[in-house]
Amino acid sequence: MNHAQNILNYWGIKLKHINYLALIFSALTFISSPLLADTPLSEELKKAVTLEPNLEAGKEKFKLCITCHQGNGWGMSDGTFPQIAGQHSSVIMKQLIDIRIGYRNNPMMLAIVKEPVFSQPQAIADIAAYIETLPMTPKPGLGTDEDNARAEKLFYRKCAECHGADGGGDKKRFYPRIQGQHYEYLLRQIKMIRDGKRKNANSVMAKRVKKLKDKDLELLANYIARMKPPKDKLAKEGWKNPDFK
Ligand code: HEC
Ligand code: HEC
Repeated sequence: MNHAQNILNYWGIKLKHINYLALIFSALTFISSPLLADTPLSEELKKAVTLEPNLEAGKEKFKLCITCHQGNGWGMSDGTFPQIAGQHSSVIMKQLIDIRIGYRNNPMMLAIVKEPVFSQPQAIADIAAYIETLPMTPKPGLGTDEDNARAEKLFYRKCAECHGADGGGDKKRFYPRIQGQHYEYLLRQIKMIRDGKRKNANSVMAKRVKKLKDKDLELLANYIARMKPPKDKLAKEGWKNPDFK
């Protein structure tokens, strides 16, 4: 009998109990850790979230984004480019860094986020803060309105806990604002999450969508695209970003 077992015997603990202890221990660590435990925060991100952002500097760097995300940050209603306006700065910072370090595949943006300037957490913080201030489009791309009752049930059961009952997300926990996003982009992402193709997807979320059929994903994307952002986040129709007319 080895030394470790002797000690355990002394305390009256038999080996078969170890499993229970391990279980209790892992349950406790699970409870005390944030839900993001599966997506460890990079050092860059930890640094970026503590910095005081400079909106003017962020506006300067936003020039690098407007060919695709447009001057308003509204992207394209066909979903090729997502709306980023109004997104929580924490989420924008995380996505930019995830793409940079290869934790989220995005070949189109790789060259931009590999620009030396974005190796500075300050630049990431500045641009994210600027984008968060932009008001959101009143006319996102939508799907066809069908079984809304089923979509609502699915959303409340499977998504609302993290993304909020109104799809507004949670800035502190890096949960994206998804309300009023373009339908096609939402659908593409949810499919990627279901099929294990979005590397940085939260694992609890991935499990919840794993068994859903395409039709349910379409219902969900349609429902989420139609969720209205709060009034103070929404642009008036015809609004143009005065910084990038
Ligand atoms: C060449 C086109 C292009 C440029 C330039 C570009 N992006 Fe993107 N961006 C995309 C595409 C395409 C996606 C969505 C990829 C996907 O479907 O997974 C995206 C996704 C994003 C996302 C994730 C959105 C979300 O909701 O998770 C953020 C944040 C983002 N871009 C910010 C930026 C910023 C900031 C810049 C400028 C520094 C920029 N992008 C420049 C094409 C571009
Ligand atoms: C346990 C919390 C949690 C649950 C439950 C959850 N999500 Fe998420 N979701 C997240 C996090 C965290 C991210 C961002 C992951 C990352 O860092 O890239 C995310 C990202 C997304 C995105 C991509 C957003 C973007 O802008 O690219 C979509 C779309 C989405 N979730 C939809 C859903 C839907 C639909 C459900 C319900 C079926 C759901 N989520 C349930 C936490 C959750």
